[in-house]
Amino acid sequence: MTTRRRFLSTTTATLAGSLLLNVVPAGISLSRAAATAQMLRRPIPSSGETLPVIGMGTSGSFEVPSGSAEYQSLKEVLKRFFAGGATLIDTAPTYSNAEDNLGALLSEGNLRKQCFLATKLSGVSGRDAGMAQFASTLKRLQTDKVELLQVHNLRDWKTQIEVARELKKQGKVKYVGVTHYVDSAHDELAEVVQATKPDFLQINHSVTNRGIEKRVLPLAKELGVAVLTNRNFNDGALFRQVQGKELPGWAADAGITSWAQMFLKYSLSQEAVTAVIPATGKPDRQSDNLKAGFGALLTPAQQKELIALVG
Ligand SMILES: NC(=O)c1ccc[n+]([C@@H]2O[C@H](COP(=O)([O-])OP(=O)(O)OC[C@H]3O[C@@H](n4cnc5c(N)ncnc54)[C@H](OP(=O)(O)O)[C@@H]3O)[C@@H](O)[C@H]2O)c1
Repeated sequence: MTTRRRFLSTTTATLAGSLLLNVVPAGISLSRAAATAQMLRRPIPSSGETLPVIGMGTSGSFEVPSGSAEYQSLKEVLKRFFAGGATLIDTAPTYSNAEDNLGALLSEGNLRKQCFLATKLSGVSGRDAGMAQFASTLKRLQTDKVELLQVHNLRDWKTQIEVARELKKQGKVKYVGVTHYVDSAHDELAEVVQATKPDFLQINHSVTNRGIEKRVLPLAKELGVAVLTNRNFNDGALFRQVQGKELPGWAADAGITSWAQMFLKYSLSQEAVTAVIPATGKPDRQSDNLKAGFGALLTPAQQKELIALVG
């Protein structure tokens, strides 16, 4: 029979071991785990401020009718996100009503202060249009500043990066970034990053789309640019690709219990990647994604094996 003392000492030992390894012990909820083990964090090179490695996107998932069942479930998605120790949320003024929903939900839940809010200058040309769009973004997000303002898909980047820098000087933006989402843009992105040295870049990366590993990631490391990777699940297509496939035997060694965690850890296993931003409107999937922020990352040999299995 397990005595209370033996139970306590076993629990304490499990928690201590888990703290050392940064893992969520089996049977312990993510919010309780967040109070004990901490999600892995990485520094933003331009400031040294650290960010939790799991963030979230809002494309699709936050583009739902206000007040609908999907909208209500976003409350739980956000609750689990912050309780799990995450902070970074990426949105854009051109994700239909995502900024409006996100602003309302953060305000209603009194969550704005916990959030590292990232948005974009998107689809606009010229200084006045950029400034006007940002003013509207602040209203939609119900805030007076954002942590990260990115030039979306490099559109009109020479002007828009200056707009973002002007807003940074005014204290309305903390960091400036540039984004894209397709392999064919990697070279142009690398050239813009080389020329402008932003605080952040955001780009697509997954186990089957590894193009940034050649030039973009080494450049980001050399210049000290933080990297957010998007489309870590190829917009969901990766799950269809592994349907019916078992996780490799070594997954458990890295505390991995799902393909989602495996795909996120693949991107986080690249040293220059600061955080991933998977998107979901489903609370249980949010909990699943957050678990990728705990435990060991993939060794180079495991990455190779995964590529052979899926890539
Ligand atoms: N140019 C740019 O700057 C740019 C371009 C693309 C994306 N982004 C940013 O990056 C974010 C992520 O990219 P993305 O939304 O295109 O694609 P993604 O994160 O690769 O995939 C999202 C899809 O995966 C599903 N999913 C999420 N978690 C899951 C889980 N644990 N298990 C099974 N399915 C899961 C979601 O479905 P459910 O919602 O049904 O769960 C959704 O269909 C965007 O939301 C956006 O913020 C930026």
